[in-house]
Amino acid sequence: MNMKKIEINTKYSSSTVYCGTDAFDERAPLLKDRQLYIITDGNVFAFYRYTMWEVFGDFVPIHILPAGETAKTFRYVIEIIRDMIKSGIGRDGCVLAIGGGVVGDIAGLVASIYMRGIHFVQMPTSLLAMVDSSVGGKTAIDLDGVKNVVGTFYPAEEVIIDPDFLLTIPYREIRCGLGEIVKYGALDENIYNFLYENFDKIAKPDKAFIDNIIPLCVEHKASVVREDEFERTGLRKSLNMGHTTGHAFELTYARKTHGEFVLIGMYYELYIATIKGVCKGEYSNKIAALINQVVKHIPAYEDIEKAVEKAKHDKKNTEGLVSIIVPTEVGKFTEMKLEFNEYKRLIVQCRDWIRGDK
Ligand SMILES: NC(=O)c1ccc[n+]([C@@H]2O[C@H](COP(=O)([O-])OP(=O)(O)OC[C@H]3O[C@@H](n4cnc5c(N)ncnc54)[C@H](O)[C@@H]3O)[C@@H](O)[C@H]2O)c1
Ligand SMILES: [Zn+2]
Repeated sequence: MNMKKIEINTKYSSSTVYCGTDAFDERAPLLKDRQLYIITDGNVFAFYRYTMWEVFGDFVPIHILPAGETAKTFRYVIEIIRDMIKSGIGRDGCVLAIGGGVVGDIAGLVASIYMRGIHFVQMPTSLLAMVDSSVGGKTAIDLDGVKNVVGTFYPAEEVIIDPDFLLTIPYREIRCGLGEIVKYGALDENIYNFLYENFDKIAKPDKAFIDNIIPLCVEHKASVVREDEFERTGLRKSLNMGHTTGHAFELTYARKTHGEFVLIGMYYELYIATIKGVCKGEYSNKIAALINQVVKHIPAYEDIEKAVEKAKHDKKNTEGLVSIIVPTEVGKFTEMKLEFNEYKRLIVQCRDWIRGDK
């Protein structure tokens, strides 16, 4: 049996993650007898509708969201809930999310508020959802342009991660997931070692690489969630490495995926950590080399001064200081807090250094 079982039990919740290429075949049929309500998106449905009908029956209600971030709004929450009422989903019903992070985030929110919370199972189908969003219980939608501003903590009782879903994923989405995977490499010694043992595969991952790295990332996220389920002790913040600057870039510049922006953000933040002596040059080069396997050329944005203004509003910031999570040595990291002007000066300095001005 090619499947790992990872339990995430906390004081408030318990969740079991099944991970491996047998996960779908082993676990999906067991859901058949529940009162299921499937939420998916148009792309995933196009590829997997026959699988869904075959395993869950052709009368199972399936809600098909438009693909992409625009589905994460109240409009679709209301649409789904109305349809669940119409479908007669009761308190013992079970929302089954089959899709990427968008589907998982909105389905989780719906499951958490419908009749004050019903059963919830996730089947992530994108690499990002497999290594990150399906684990840990954060649910969310966006409002008035603010991402993830409405949400709940509602871990899926079961997460079924079958990497074979990735056989249909566009390569762009693999790169997105690789961004988060390299981030884990800067947080976790096992993942760091795995990435260095398979260094050449990072740029062009094969199936074995992907199948093996997913459970390592899930294990890491699980260990963080067990310690800090509600992001209170600060440990969970570490998963946001690269995200302060990466997110500011993502809001300003289009074209790249979230995961690539995370790595670009990590690269700039690593420069700050290195200049400030928080991360030693030799290790900094090692992390930069991992980043460069996914993002060959780190952009030196012309108007970077404007982009970094957005970092002022990062959720991690406190006392008016910009917070960045940076690697210090293998498997270790720390939070740095900088005055905004200092942060901006160093980001600009890094940009000029990349450009070769200095
Ligand atoms: N809850 C959390 O902890 C958490 C963590 C990280 C990110 N997120 C959220 O996750 C979302 C991003 O997730 P994502 O990157 O999976 O985006 P996504 O859900 O939009 O999926 C990316 C694209 O891949 C397609 N797709 C998914 N699976 C496929 C498959 N097997 N075959 C073919 N196409 C497939 C989708 O239709 C979509 O077009 C964001 O909204 C982000 O806020 C949540
Ligand atoms: Zn991310």
